[in-house]
This record gives sequence, C-alpha cells and structure tokens, in this order.
Amino acid sequence: MGSQPELHILLSHEQIEAAVKKLAAEIRQGYQGKYPLLIGVLKGSFVFMADLIRHLDFPLEVEFIRLSSYGRGRERSGKIKVVQGLRSKVRGRDVLIIEDIVDTGLTTGFLLDYLRQKKPASLRLCALTDKPSRRQTAVIIDYLGFTVPDKFLVGYGLDLDEKFRNLPDICFLEEES
Ligand code: IMP
Repeated sequence: MGSQPELHILLSHEQIEAAVKKLAAEIRQGYQGKYPLLIGVLKGSFVFMADLIRHLDFPLEVEFIRLSSYGRGRERSGKIKVVQGLRSKVRGRDVLIIEDIVDTGLTTGFLLDYLRQKKPASLRLCALTDKPSRRQTAVIIDYLGFTVPDKFLVGYGLDLDEKFRNLPDICFLEEES
C-alpha cells in the first residue's frame, strides 16, 4: 500500500492573484496597439489563462494547443508531439505562449521551435512558474510569475494524474512516511 501524499501550500491564491495582476500589467505594456494571439498550453494553463486575460483590457485572441509531455505523475512520456493543434494562423501574428510551468524546458522548447517555423511577427513566453533546477533546454521566459523549488506542484491548473487542478492554491506534495 502506498502512503497518502500530504498537500502543503507553496503559493496561496492571494499570492497568485497578485502575480497575475503584475504579469498582466507587463503584458499590457508589451502589446500596446497590437492584437496578440495568446496560446495556452493544455491542460495546465487553462486556469491561469482565464484569470490573466480578464486583466488584459485590449483586443486579443485566445487559442489552445495540447502537447504530450508528462505521462503519469513525474514519469516522462518520451517524445513531445502536438496532440491538439491550432486553428488560428500564426504567420505574421504577435504570439504569446501561456504556460503553467516550465520544468525541464523540453515541452516549451519544442513549442517555441514549432511556432517559430510558422513565422509569427513576434514570439514570447509567459509562464506562471519556473522550476529552473530541472532545466535540460535553455528557455527564455519573457513574463514570469514565480521561480519554484524542485518539488512536484499541483493546483491552479496543475495536476497529478488529472487530480488537484481545481485547488485555488499551488501546493506541493509530500509522501507521508
Ligand atoms: P517540461 O517539458 O519538463 O518543461 O514540462 C512541462 C509540462 O510538464 C508542464 O506544462 C506540466 O504539464 C508538466 N509539469 C512539469 N512540472 C510539473 C509539476 O510540478 N506539477 C505538475 N505538472 C508539471
């Protein structure tokens, strides 16, 4: 029998809300007079995306892409691929990727390459959290909420085997011994 994981709050919903507002202010500045295409990476970014865009008071378009990355838990699913693609044209657009977390950087690195090939006018990355200790590929994050420690995080869209996405706070899991 495996032991039950215990949840500890790492980032409270108040801290997250403040970070989302700060990021929105930076993004507003960066996209004045533009009509950006925001691409959320499913599924983890949907909560962040929903909160973020409600602080962006200018015209924008929302899209989602789904990539295969993690399998179950922390296990790798191997090669990254597009599972659900984009409907909007990327060529000539100011594209802003919205990520929940950059961990090894493999998923985001893949997505940046994939989108760059579609010739956007500009391509930037907004990530709510960054776990730099596990990085395998260099990734430049243009708009960052939090740098987080090497712990498995859940909540605010982040899951463990599809559970915990609905938690308002970002928590880390620790096995009870
Ligand atoms: P990367 O390719 O290692 O950077 O991982 C990116 C994806 O892995 C994220 O979009 C998440 O879906 C997932 N992921 C990475 N770290 C965590 C975590 O701590 N909790 C939940 N999902 C994670």
